[in-house]
Amino acid sequence: MVLIRLLVLVCLVGTGILIETLAAQNEQTNSKTVTHAAQFHSLSIPGLDNVFQIDRQFYSGSGPHGEQSFQELKKLGIKTIVSVDGTTPDLVHARKAGMKYIHIPIGYDGVSEDAGLAFARVARDLNGPVYIHCHHGKHRGPTAAAVVGLCRGSLDQNSALQFLTQAGTSKDYSGLWNDVKTFKVPEANAILPELVETAKVPPMVTAMTLISHNFELAGKLQQSKPGDQKERLRVLVLLREELHETARKYSDDYDEMFKQWLAESEAQVKELEAAVQQGNQQAFSTGMKNLKSQCKRCHKAYRD
Ligand code: HEC
Repeated sequence: MVLIRLLVLVCLVGTGILIETLAAQNEQTNSKTVTHAAQFHSLSIPGLDNVFQIDRQFYSGSGPHGEQSFQELKKLGIKTIVSVDGTTPDLVHARKAGMKYIHIPIGYDGVSEDAGLAFARVARDLNGPVYIHCHHGKHRGPTAAAVVGLCRGSLDQNSALQFLTQAGTSKDYSGLWNDVKTFKVPEANAILPELVETAKVPPMVTAMTLISHNFELAGKLQQSKPGDQKERLRVLVLLREELHETARKYSDDYDEMFKQWLAESEAQVKELEAAVQQGNQQAFSTGMKNLKSQCKRCHKAYRD
């Protein structure tokens, strides 16, 4: 006789105390514990966004940045961090906080077969509390966490999809949704890949993580003090150079339109630099919006 437990997790924000109520039960067949909770437990943790507990041992959320967020993960009891985005994991801070890193980058278009097998290995081999993250903790991270939950048997297909909904995974990324919907848990004797702490990622992905970093930084500096003008210019120059290099070095597999769009973004960043030099906030804000829509236009056509 087996229990199907309904986990009701109540988080007392600020004290970090978790009260776990186990209620309801059922008998029958399956030896696994399946979460059918209506809601996944959401945690409020300084420096991290969209943090959810998907089962007793596994969490999903945004990427940690800087010492504080790693210390917060340590407080949560995390032993291993799994990154699924293209950024090189911050092994220095992780080690300092006594945690291991595993890197399984996936795209916005879905979970490849290899990545699915690697997630099965995560589910099989990692016991301790595990934190799975992408950049914002909304799309790829929850997808990976859902797949791991399926492999662990702590989620079924319905609750996995419910989790994506709660995490805010965009329906625009239909590949992510589809791969959770159709995911088949590998056989118990399947050969699973080795897990690595830093995976090789294609140069286009690395370039994009740098572009993304500088784009976000330029946006943040926008709201802060005027003394940031110099820093804002420096960041914009890096952003422009990265867009230029991406077109020149990594775009061979793409068509002319792709290169043209990169050139348009480069020109847009030049305008942003001019706006900063003239101290024209209005033009800067408008320019950032334009640039963002250019990022989206290309991702829609070539990435997602
Ligand atoms: C002309 C096309 C194009 C433009 C413009 C573009 N990107 Fe991308 N971006 C891509 C492609 C293609 C990928 C997927 C690369 C892959 O997975 O192989 C990508 C991937 C990404 C990723 C995911 C990296 C990862 O972790 O896997 C981020 C983040 C990103 N882009 C941010 C941005 C931002 C921010 C901008 C605008 C400032 C931008 N991109 C502009 C084409 C573009």
